[in-house]
This record gives sequence, C-alpha cells and structure tokens, in this order.
Amino acid sequence: MKVFSANLDNLRKLYFNQLQMLLSTEQQITVALPKMIDKAMDVQLKQAFQSHMQETNEQVKRLEQILKSATGQAEPVKCKVMPALVTETEDMMKDAADDSVRDAALISAGQRVEHYEIACYGAVRRWAQLLGERQHAELLDKTIHEESHADKLLTEIAERVNPYAEKAA
Ligand SMILES: [Fe+2]
Ligand SMILES: [Fe+2]
Repeated sequence: MKVFSANLDNLRKLYFNQLQMLLSTEQQITVALPKMIDKAMDVQLKQAFQSHMQETNEQVKRLEQILKSATGQAEPVKCKVMPALVTETEDMMKDAADDSVRDAALISAGQRVEHYEIACYGAVRRWAQLLGERQHAELLDKTIHEESHADKLLTEIAERVNPYAEKAA
C-alpha cells in the first residue's frame, strides 16, 4: 500500500498541497463540463454550464497564479473525488431515459461538484487569511463567489426543470 508521502508538518504546506489538489479538481472539471454541456437539453442549463466553463478556466489560472508566485511552480496533486463524481454522473447519464430526467440528473451532478468545491475553497481561503496571504484570499474569494453563484443558479433551474422530470413517462 502506498503511504501518504507529502510531509505536511505545518499549515503552509497543507495549504499549498490543497491548492495543488484544487488545481487538479478544476482541471478535471474542464474535461467533464463540455460533456455535461453536450448532454444538457434545457437551454438555460446549457448556458449555465457554458458560462461556468469560462469561469472554471479563470479559476485554473487563479490557482496557477497563486502557486507560481508563491512556490515557483503550479503542479497539480491528483484530486481523487472528481473521478468518483464523474463516474456517478456518467452512470446517471447512461440510465436517464428522458430529457428532463437527464437534465435533473445533470443539475444534481453539477451541484455535488459545486458543494465539494465550496467546501475545499472555504478551507483554503481561511488558511490563506491565517497565513497572511491577503492577495491569495482575495483571489480565492472570487472563485468561491463564482461557485456559489453557479450552485444558486442550478437550484433555480432545478425548480423549473424538476416538474417536467416528475411528469415524464
Ligand atoms: Fe471551480
Ligand atoms: Fe464550479
């Protein structure tokens, strides 16, 4: 069994390790989102995913900017949660036999990702503040707002899409 090898003996090391993990999370999202855009039938849902794709590209750049300025490099540490969330999404896509049901599943899948991101970013933003990295905290705050906005928008779209899914079949 592979033993966890990063020597995280202070908060600063944990902070940068988790930023590297978030870089991997966001990179995996830039691969997953185009497939979700493709599958979404509801126009507003498609647009919401498209605009969040653009935001995600910026979020990748923000993390790279923070990591490069502070450590001289921006190497991802593999996020192991995203592959599981992507697999769950693919399973739902495979099984959804109705457009509205598929959209409802896509919204649910998208919100799982946003909540995961919000939890991770919330922690690193707080650590940035504690470590005196004010600029980092501001950049991370921008990302958290985008994730929260994406989550709220998906809730609104679900309110409209779910009744159609409920009437399906
Ligand atoms: Fe993100
Ligand atoms: Fe997101």
